[in-house]
Amino acid sequence: MKTPLLLAVAAATAALAGPNCPPLGPVYEKPYNFKTSSAIQAAVANLTASFTAWDQNNSSVIRANTTSYSIEVFSTSKENPLIFSWHHTAASLAAATNTSGVRKTDANAVYRLGSLTKVFTVYAWLVQDGDAKWNEPITKYVPELAAAADRAKADPVANVPWDEVTIGALAGQLSGAIRDYGLMSEITQEFNQGEAMGLGFPPLEDSDPMLPKCGEWPQCNRTEFFNGLLRAYPSFAPFATPAYTNTGYQILAYALEAIKGKSFQTMMEESVLQPLGLNHTYYRDPPAEEGIIPGVRSESGWNYQLGDENPAGNMYSSVGDISSLGRAILRSTLLPPALTRRWLKPASMSSELVAGVGYPWGVRRVVVPYRQGKRVVDAFNKAGRIGYYASLLVLLPDYDAGFSVLIAGEDIPGNTNFNMADILGAQLVPALEAAAREQAEAKFSGEYVDEARNASLRLTTQSDRPGLGVENWVSNGTDMQTIAVVMQGGYAPVSPSVRLYPAGLETVRADGSKRVAFKAVFEDLNLPARTDSMFSTDCGTWVSFTGVVYGTQPLDQFIFEVDAEGKVVSIESLALRSVMKKR
Ligand SMILES: *[C@@H]1O[C@H](CO)[C@@H](O)[C@H](O)[C@H]1NC(C)=O
Ligand SMILES: *[C@@H]1O[C@H](CO)[C@@H](O)[C@H](O)[C@H]1NC(C)=O
Ligand SMILES: *[C@@H]1O[C@H](CO)[C@@H](O)[C@H](O)[C@H]1NC(C)=O
Ligand SMILES: *[C@@H]1O[C@H](CO)[C@@H](O)[C@H](O)[C@H]1NC(C)=O
Ligand SMILES: *[C@@H]1O[C@H](CO)[C@@H](O)[C@H](O)[C@H]1NC(C)=O
Ligand SMILES: *[C@@H]1O[C@H](CO)[C@@H](O)[C@H](O)[C@H]1NC(C)=O
Ligand SMILES: *[C@@H]1O[C@H](CO)[C@@H](O)[C@H](O)[C@H]1NC(C)=O
Ligand SMILES: *[C@@H]1O[C@H](CO)[C@@H](O)[C@H](O)[C@H]1NC(C)=O
Ligand SMILES: *[C@@H]1O[C@H](CO)[C@@H](O)[C@H](O)[C@H]1NC(C)=O
Repeated sequence: MKTPLLLAVAAATAALAGPNCPPLGPVYEKPYNFKTSSAIQAAVANLTASFTAWDQNNSSVIRANTTSYSIEVFSTSKENPLIFSWHHTAASLAAATNTSGVRKTDANAVYRLGSLTKVFTVYAWLVQDGDAKWNEPITKYVPELAAAADRAKADPVANVPWDEVTIGALAGQLSGAIRDYGLMSEITQEFNQGEAMGLGFPPLEDSDPMLPKCGEWPQCNRTEFFNGLLRAYPSFAPFATPAYTNTGYQILAYALEAIKGKSFQTMMEESVLQPLGLNHTYYRDPPAEEGIIPGVRSESGWNYQLGDENPAGNMYSSVGDISSLGRAILRSTLLPPALTRRWLKPASMSSELVAGVGYPWGVRRVVVPYRQGKRVVDAFNKAGRIGYYASLLVLLPDYDAGFSVLIAGEDIPGNTNFNMADILGAQLVPALEAAAREQAEAKFSGEYVDEARNASLRLTTQSDRPGLGVENWVSNGTDMQTIAVVMQGGYAPVSPSVRLYPAGLETVRADGSKRVAFKAVFEDLNLPARTDSMFSTDCGTWVSFTGVVYGTQPLDQFIFEVDAEGKVVSIESLALRSVMKKR
């Protein structure tokens, strides 16, 4: 062994491994065939039993007798676009004599979305204008904010530095500005002076400029909104910490209107709703006869329009349309795939270890519990709540799947949408992972041989480890598993491991055949797991990729040749210049 060379390699690529540490992202190709997956069937059976029990439960945390809902678990799979669906009509809605909406919920029944609207708002922006302007200051497009930008120079405690707030900061909830103006959180809109004093607040003069004269009703027009907003203290400096705002989404819509010279509603309809055929989705004023309207209509909040704050929370949709929206995002139907990937990333982390914040996503980091490997699935979700309605969309890009939940009821228990997501996610994430593994096992596992180069390997999958396992990798008499870890780590491994993960790169030829790239991770499984260290890690895989290269070709890169029928023909080791045919 030539030790000096190996030490130099080690210094460049040192990364410790305990359990298998895959790259972030899918560890198998996306699953698409769910009908034959025993894991998916078991998950669907569990969900059916769980929601059957739910629908009979009138306790204060469920209230099935007054809460109607629709759920869909969807996939971009052409074969099985709908994995599970469930609709429950509350007894109180079925019995209602006075409702102007539907009496039974289904995939086309229209609910209010509340803040799930924000996904549509960002989507409309990205389809109309991409994200090239996202690092530009909002003051470039909103004159009211430009005129006030200097105030923060003199007094940053009392004024938002609007020239430091970018479009991306608003979309990613990093502006630091106030949450709402005159709405929702504003006590003077909900209580009269006497009631407010009873709650411990001092009286405000009618002439006090800080007392909103508009809000829930009458709604603020644009002039009033900015007059009020510019009096409001910032919560934080821009980009300091995520802090949810509805005002940010109202401002985004004004900016896009200035850029494109069209109304935001027109852009929403022309660039998202019509191209995707979302015929049960409405920016405002939906037809009541398609609606699911619990209780007394005027109390349900069905009619209430948010006015200029519509882009933050006004929209209406059906569960079928929300699933179509989710599929369209995952399929990049309206956006370039690279932009979709950029959109499905966090804008910042949050104070919760397993959570981040995106545009406008809440990002949850879900652990798939492999016995011998680390695996994190990032879930991108957006919830909403308005009047008698609650909603949730969850996207799981690692599986090109997700779920939609729409809820309506006179008294929806507080956490219903997330309680449902907990039930769905606990079943679906492990089942989708298992379905992807079953599919990978059927497609890739087997012996691969290159007679000319005297090279071979075997691929397998295991239920307790992520990715495709490489075994018996030999090149002209040399054990390449050991060599790979030696070259990468700079020492002789005790328990060398080579596993392959999809790189997300495919070349599709005119005849339908493909070259599909996978990236390998070289690890010594004998190293200690480091779960309690502050800086040392046993999962720093991302630092090590392409750490061993022979004539510009990486030892950790493999290309599958897949024929037009989807059958794997061969695997090519780029560094070894070897094409091993599948036996
Ligand atoms: C569904 O699965 C969960 C988790 O495995 C389990 O706790 C629950 O009892 C199951 N529910 C039903 C109705 O089978
Ligand atoms: C109803 O739901 C609550 C909350 O999940 C649960 O504690 C209770 O056991 C359920 N009741 C029945 C009869 O299943
Ligand atoms: C729903 O069920 C609860 C618990 O049984 C009951 O107290 C309530 O009156 C029911 N509501 C309606 C509208 O039936
Ligand atoms: C729940 O409430 C509905 C309607 O109020 C009633 O018909 C049903 O029997 C209740 N279910 C249980 C388990 O109490
Ligand atoms: C029926 O609907 C009307 C109009 O929304 C409302 O004024 C009335 O209170 C409702 N009646 C009942 C019994 O809910
Ligand atoms: C906005 O409201 C104010 C106060 O009610 C009014 O004076 C102004 O004309 C309104 N502006 C627009 C553009 O409607
Ligand atoms: C939506 O409506 C349009 C126009 O009526 C129709 O062409 C289209 O097929 C509908 N789309 C869906 C998904 O139903
Ligand atoms: C195998 O290695 C030997 C030398 O160690 C070399 O002579 C031979 O050409 C190699 N064979 C192949 C197929 O690379
Ligand atoms: C091929 O490799 C084997 C060891 O795996 C070795 O015994 C054999 O001599 C090699 N054959 C050629 C032609 O290089």
